[in-house]
Amino acid sequence: MIPAPLKARAAVHNGESSSLDIRTIDVAAPGPGSVLVRLGASGVCGSDRHVLDGDWQLPSPTVMGHEGAGTVAAIGEGVVDVAVGDHVILSWFYPCRRCTACVSGRSYVCTGSRAEECLLPDGTSALSENGTRVFPYLAVGSMSEYTVVPESGAIKVPAAVPFDVASLIGCSIATGYGAVVNDAAVQAGQSAVVVGTGGVGLSIIMALNLVGANPIIAVDLSEEKLAAARELGATHTLQPGNDLAAQIQEITGGGADFAFEAIGRVQTIESLPGLITGGGKAVIVGLPPQDAPVSIDALELAESGKSLIGSNYGSTVPGRDFPRLAELYLAGKLPVDKLISDRIKLDEVNEAFDAMRRGERARSVIVFD
Ligand code: APR
Ligand code: ZN
Repeated sequence: MIPAPLKARAAVHNGESSSLDIRTIDVAAPGPGSVLVRLGASGVCGSDRHVLDGDWQLPSPTVMGHEGAGTVAAIGEGVVDVAVGDHVILSWFYPCRRCTACVSGRSYVCTGSRAEECLLPDGTSALSENGTRVFPYLAVGSMSEYTVVPESGAIKVPAAVPFDVASLIGCSIATGYGAVVNDAAVQAGQSAVVVGTGGVGLSIIMALNLVGANPIIAVDLSEEKLAAARELGATHTLQPGNDLAAQIQEITGGGADFAFEAIGRVQTIESLPGLITGGGKAVIVGLPPQDAPVSIDALELAESGKSLIGSNYGSTVPGRDFPRLAELYLAGKLPVDKLISDRIKLDEVNEAFDAMRRGERARSVIVFD
């Protein structure tokens, strides 16, 4: 067993700067119900960028990263779901397992989780620096060599799944797959538009391809992203522009059955109802900045029987969906590796965020030694 407390190199956000410091933090031994994880990989996700760019307020200092996978290095008292040596994917919304939502199978709207406070269930953090508390982002903090998470936030998956792939299953893949399967319930032969094809949008396209949606129309500013979208199953790729709705109407014969927004921009969210046919579903997957309301033509929405739904983390139930996604990957049905454009070191994380701000790279993944 790895002795804890121990030291770990980690990417720390001080609450103000939009770049991260690579520093050595202290990691305490896991307390009751918690698990010490040695990270194998961490994705660099758009939600981390929101935090760095000040779109969302968080406690600080924070170890960033919420899309991670690794090996269980030690377990706290009472932990039964995982054992030392297990490979786990981390969930950024650990369920409390006791609230009404959790016991009725809807842990994605758990009311007892303290994940959004970046705290373990007992209100503590196992991370610190010179005696000062450091918060793991969304109770994950995967941009660190080690972290401590609640047992309910570490899901065992087969060791045959490489860590870089497993890390993406923990956020972008689960979000995209869940938006398509759990929330929109897309059926074979139905048409779909995906606006924004970064890591999350490309994951939506992969899931649309898996369930047999057709046509699958990808919309992005970047030709590099559109090429990746074609590779993952998009049948049509478009640059956004004035005639986007008309082009989609022409391809689909009157509007798509589904439109997904995977950027988190107010204007593109507002454009969604105009891309779908009567009775269609518009799905908000991208998360906009705080306090940025959108405006919708409610009369048009009601008269044409359209729905606008929110999808957070694809309504993922981690203990059900992570193993399922891992098996789909192992069966060759979900080519998660095609999403990984860059494998980087922890020290290169700021360059990865800069590339993301320029609209470059499908997904950068930090790989730990
Ligand atoms: N029209 C079309 N595409 C755009 C536009 C636009 N106006 N503006 C940006 N994009 C594209 C970018 O080119 C990029 O490919 O949106 C994509 C965003 O992808 P990423 O930056 O890689 O972000 P991602 O990790 O996919 O997250 C997207 O989902 O979960 C949320 O918080 C997350 O809000 C974020 C969103
Ligand atoms: Zn994410």
